[in-house]
Amino acid sequence: MSKTIGVLTGGGDCPGLNAVIRAIVKRSLPRGNRIVGMLDGWAGLLENRTRELDPESVSGIIHVGGTIIGTSRTNVLKDQATIDLAFQRVRELKLDGLIAIGGEGTLTVSAKLASLGMPVVGVPKTIDNDINETDYTFGFNTAVEIATEAIDRLHTTAESHRRVMVVEVMGRHAGWIATYAGIAGGADVILVPEYSMSVEEIVGIIEDRKARGRRFSIVVVAEGAKIKRNGAEQGVARDRKDPFGRPLLGGIGQVLADEIEASTGMETRVTVLGHVQRGGSPTALDRVLATRLGAFAADLAHEGRWGMMPSLKGTRIEAAPLSNATSSLKLVDPELWGLARSFFGL
Ligand code: F6P
Repeated sequence: MSKTIGVLTGGGDCPGLNAVIRAIVKRSLPRGNRIVGMLDGWAGLLENRTRELDPESVSGIIHVGGTIIGTSRTNVLKDQATIDLAFQRVRELKLDGLIAIGGEGTLTVSAKLASLGMPVVGVPKTIDNDINETDYTFGFNTAVEIATEAIDRLHTTAESHRRVMVVEVMGRHAGWIATYAGIAGGADVILVPEYSMSVEEIVGIIEDRKARGRRFSIVVVAEGAKIKRNGAEQGVARDRKDPFGRPLLGGIGQVLADEIEASTGMETRVTVLGHVQRGGSPTALDRVLATRLGAFAADLAHEGRWGMMPSLKGTRIEAAPLSNATSSLKLVDPELWGLARSFFGL
């Protein structure tokens, strides 16, 4: 029997979202299933704003960044009335199921709705790479490539001016982008949310390099990193929050740069990569991963395996329960961190 499946993208966008949508459509239509896009994430479902996804609408989008159906950070779990409305809309739109492509927030909502009986399949996405139950998320590879290229470029200008360059990358709870791009770009210090450092430690590494004749240093810092001060850990956040109550991040790079400059006397400059890491074309690796996940999610929906999501385990795509994916975050593992740290300042 043919099915009508809704698709939505929620939370921050991520290179590869269109490749997932395309794979879902291309896998589903030949089976006689119908795919309807919810516009702007959960908001589209709640507000009844949808778009039919036919072959034409997904033609030529595999290399395109962003999401053709839009996204938002809409919190369906905010109250019972909103949850009830979501269920009502699924009935009104005659959806047999929903595929929700998203990160921590969207997958938590999906797991909860699935536990309440909504037919939902999830697809993990985030440049931060912090979703459990999957080895990598698509978008991460693209973000690492962008951050690494930025570090490479900052190297030459740092060396020319004998400066310290601080590069702030994304990573709210997990420092995967900072760690990978930092290792790949040969950074002298990498600061991540999982392993805080004091300004004295950071300055010590830079001073040691100076003493060995290295006249510049590169510091990579994840936006969610914390600085150790008098036994406490201190992050930097703005006073605005997103609809899930999470503070908007950004600014730790400047705080750190000011302290490094004050302590070392070396001119220090800051580059905040921000949303450049999320925009634009996905790498080939991300396109392939996104395509595999999209096709698998379409299979899960076709088979009615609700409450599950496709996940990358080694080289294979497998089904994993949504609840496992969101019960805790996947943090940078100590071994990788130890490797990164062993190269600091060398
Ligand atoms: O998608 C996760 C993320 O990249 C976080 O690292 C960052 O804090 C957040 O998105 C910022 O997103 P926005 O500016 O869209 O709220």
